Amino acid sequence: MKAVVYTAHGGPENISITTLDDPTPAPGDVLVRVRAVALNGFDPMILKGIPGLKTPMPHIPGGDIAGEVAGFGAGVEGGRWKRGDRVLVNPYVIGRGMMGETARGGACELVSVPATHLVPIPDNVSFTDAAALPVAYGTAMRMMITRGRVARGESVLVLGASGGVGTCCIQLAKLRGCRAIGVTSSAEKAARLLAIGADEVINAGEGDWAKQAVERFGKPRVHGESGGVDVIVNYVGGEDWTKAYRALKRGGRMLTCGATNGYAPPEDIRYLWSFEYELIGSNGWSQEDLGTLLAMASDGRMKPVIDSIRPLDDFLTSYAALADRKVFGKAVLTV
Ligand SMILES: NC(=O)c1ccc[n+]([C@@H]2O[C@H](COP(=O)([O-])OP(=O)(O)OC[C@H]3O[C@@H](n4cnc5c(N)ncnc54)[C@H](OP(=O)(O)O)[C@@H]3O)[C@@H](O)[C@H]2O)c1
Repeated sequence: MKAVVYTAHGGPENISITTLDDPTPAPGDVLVRVRAVALNGFDPMILKGIPGLKTPMPHIPGGDIAGEVAGFGAGVEGGRWKRGDRVLVNPYVIGRGMMGETARGGACELVSVPATHLVPIPDNVSFTDAAALPVAYGTAMRMMITRGRVARGESVLVLGASGGVGTCCIQLAKLRGCRAIGVTSSAEKAARLLAIGADEVINAGEGDWAKQAVERFGKPRVHGESGGVDVIVNYVGGEDWTKAYRALKRGGRMLTCGATNGYAPPEDIRYLWSFEYELIGSNGWSQEDLGTLLAMASDGRMKPVIDSIRPLDDFLTSYAALADRKVFGKAVLTV
């Protein structure tokens, strides 16, 4: 089969498109013919290498996979799935790891997945829309709803709002009846955030975003009436970690699922007790979340934000756009 392969950790010179043996489905697995695969913020991180995370090389990137059932390992034929069924893959498999991260992903023609890790795609949801959902939207769903408990009337500020997780957080904030505020890095991305429903945007390219937030939403105060926003979604980390405290209302919640710009930022725990902040971590999604997202895509409540759809052969173009921070929403490849 054709596959995109990372041959070693490093830069994009270590990415090639090559031919590999077709996977043989293990007992209990279904062979899926990939129709669409989406990139995530972690795809460049994996190529570079993440301390503490072991990715066996050669590696196939791509954690978001939609396709059709094409074959069966022992024990699953005649069960829930039949050839040609349209399915979305839940890419985290206990015991094997996360596809595209520590296990081989879907930037290729065929993947072997446990039959238990497939979710049916509704007829009116395209492969490309479905492939946009699992990792970024699933993570946003768990972080915002299950863990973050965002509620009607709250103000929710999202840092790095133009990415896969971020654009979904903006949409979920709106669906929950919140005031959605997107912080982004350019005027063009700011305009696109307004177009997908953000109530307000802050262009960090025009100056310190926290200062701009204080000007608009007020200064957090330990006593009396407090300014600031109720919730900050902060998977950027780095210098933006403590900076965010300058914009978070007393009693506010900071949600995180990652650290795009640094996982060990300096902390200032005085803010935590003085302003009684809650820091809430969130990791991954449940398979139920993926079913819910597909149902929302089917009935129109959720429209996956897709930046580009290119053939798999153009992987490097989409990869470069992602690494250069030029993608708005999801970069999807068709296979
Ligand atoms: N724990 C989990 O289960 C889980 C799952 C999925 C993702 N994540 C994490 O969530 C984060 C977002 O993932 P994603 O797939 O949405 O990524 P993405 O599509 O690449 O979006 C990330 C956004 O962050 C901003 N950004 C990029 N580089 C930055 C930098 N150096 N400094 C500050 N901001 C930067 C950009 O937005 P602007 O240009 O608008 O600022 C970019 O669009 C990543 O850290 C990822 O590892 C965690």
